[in-house]
Amino acid sequence: MKPAFIIEDLRYAYPTNKKQDVLKGISFTVDQGEIFGLLGPSGAGKSTTQKVLTRLLNDYRGSITYFDRDLKSYDSRFYEEIGVGFEMPVHFSKLTGLENMRYFASFYQKKNDIETLLKRVGLWEYKDIKVAEYSKGMKVRLNFVRALLNDPKVLFLDEVTNGLDPKNAKIIKDMIREFKDQNRTVFLTTHLMNDVEQLCDKVAFCINGQLHEISKVRDLKLKYGKKEVMVEYREDDQLKIESFDMNNIADNPKFISLLHHKGLETIHSGETTMEDIFIKVTGQALYEE
Ligand SMILES: Nc1ncnc2c1ncn2[C@@H]1O[C@H](COP(=O)(O)OP(=O)(O)O)[C@@H](O)[C@H]1O
Ligand SMILES: [Mg+2]
Repeated sequence: MKPAFIIEDLRYAYPTNKKQDVLKGISFTVDQGEIFGLLGPSGAGKSTTQKVLTRLLNDYRGSITYFDRDLKSYDSRFYEEIGVGFEMPVHFSKLTGLENMRYFASFYQKKNDIETLLKRVGLWEYKDIKVAEYSKGMKVRLNFVRALLNDPKVLFLDEVTNGLDPKNAKIIKDMIREFKDQNRTVFLTTHLMNDVEQLCDKVAFCINGQLHEISKVRDLKLKYGKKEVMVEYREDDQLKIESFDMNNIADNPKFISLLHHKGLETIHSGETTMEDIFIKVTGQALYEE
């Protein structure tokens, strides 16, 4: 797989606090065609990383390679290739949804179809309403499709599902997966485990400006998950649960007999959640108690 980004020993301090690095030497690779998730609690440095990668913050140390070239060597054409969803939706509230989309589209040469985008996220019928009157969720959806206006090659999404109801979160997640299925790259930051479980191919755990583990989500689940199969079944009107070691399970007579059992209700493997993995790897909880 071809790397979209290679980040090596990235360090960054905000101008207001030059002595304190917010990013303390992080390294990772984002491959083309993958959804890479930067996961961590509030204040970890996720948004700062996205701002550096999208060149909103330039005074960094370390190196960033974007498709085989130093990121700093790209001119403004870089922005033709990327789409950015900011953590805080930024729109002109006195303009309508459609006017906002047209205005931001005017910056780009390449154009996506605005009607299709707005229809997909259920905003077409509200296109002529001023954004000031949009609900939080509508603003978040507008923010997301705005990032797709230039039909980008790489999509950056900062806490993209924050404030969305499950139905709209699903639409957006489906769109992110479709984007990736066209061999395009997604860099997303999130503090939500669900996003990672449902979207990401690879994830990096970020705490206090440092990365703790960078792995394929599937590998993490295998590494930290229990090789176990749980079977729930009903017997004499009582729910019973039995666990089996996954090794040699095909030769386990009790398991085989349960498979033939009439009262079988569920079978599932003992995968750990990303939340448990995060705590195991970093020694910290992702959410404040
Ligand atoms: N504009 C800024 N000036 C100074 N410090 C900032 C600024 N933005 C963020 N920070 C600090 O940088 C750290 C990382 O913030 P951020 O990247 O927003 O974290 P996250 O997105 O993971 O919640 C925090 O300690 C935050 O207070
Ligand atoms: Mg953030």
